[in-house]
Amino acid sequence: MNASRLSLHSGQPSGQHPGRRLCRVSDVPDGGARVVDEGPAGKPVIVVRRGERVWAYANRCPHFSVPLDFEPGLISCYRSQVLMCAHHSALFRFEDGHCIEGPCAGAALDGFTVEIDAAGWVLA
Ligand code: FES
Repeated sequence: MNASRLSLHSGQPSGQHPGRRLCRVSDVPDGGARVVDEGPAGKPVIVVRRGERVWAYANRCPHFSVPLDFEPGLISCYRSQVLMCAHHSALFRFEDGHCIEGPCAGAALDGFTVEIDAAGWVLA
């Protein structure tokens, strides 16, 4: 279980990517997640990481449209495969945000396209 909270880094990233900086990939625990307060839509996002791969999702559970973290910034992840909503334990796959178990099984988190630039920033 790994999670923490991070504020948005402002400014344009170096290089040719126009994306918005969310955090550094090294800020996200391998096999875990980090909440970034301001994502692409100005709302909190969850950045999930497995090794050098990252994904980002709106911090909003499709079950009751509430943040997945009951305690701010604390997102539970298991076996580098799924993250869990703190409210009713829905499990979402890292790769696509699809809910594989729980009260909203079959639904999915809203995802954002992200990439990692040469300096190690996660860009949305
Ligand atoms: S609010 Fe997330 S599982 Fe119910």
